[in-house]
Amino acid sequence: MATEKTINDLFLDTPKDIYFAEKQTLKALPKMARAAQSEEGRAGFLKHRDETQGQIERLEQVFELIGKPARGKTCEAIQGILAEGEEIMEEYKGSVALDAGLISAAQAVEHYESARYGTLIAWANQLGLKVAVPLLQATLTEEDATDKKLTRLAEVSDNPKGKRAA
Ligand SMILES: [Fe+2]
Ligand SMILES: [Fe+2]
Repeated sequence: MATEKTINDLFLDTPKDIYFAEKQTLKALPKMARAAQSEEGRAGFLKHRDETQGQIERLEQVFELIGKPARGKTCEAIQGILAEGEEIMEEYKGSVALDAGLISAAQAVEHYESARYGTLIAWANQLGLKVAVPLLQATLTEEDATDKKLTRLAEVSDNPKGKRAA
């Protein structure tokens, strides 16, 4: 009989998933920045690339806290989301809809990440690993702020004059 798995196992496995996801995203963001047509979009993707670097380092601290080596585990969800982003970059290249498409791809990434960090925070609290919570929370706050910023950018890119609504 297989050993019974616990939430503890889930808590130990999930940082590997998001570690992989963050590293893949780190590689994708400069590509998205290069593809973006608006200056604001480009700057936003580059800023989040730098934040993502910091998020990877926070996860390394989490691995240290739980006494495990920092190692990723293939996350098919993020691979699929990023592949869709690449598809949009190819199919909408040179079109007025490109930035809106890039934003939608980036928002899917942010929502995936937020879901993972939200869960990890809940489990860390449940398992008495409160020391990991501020690290996870700092990243969740950045992901949520990025998501809100993308929503604002989407509103601007939907506006043909490129003006931000007050
Ligand atoms: Fe992230
Ligand atoms: Fe993110």
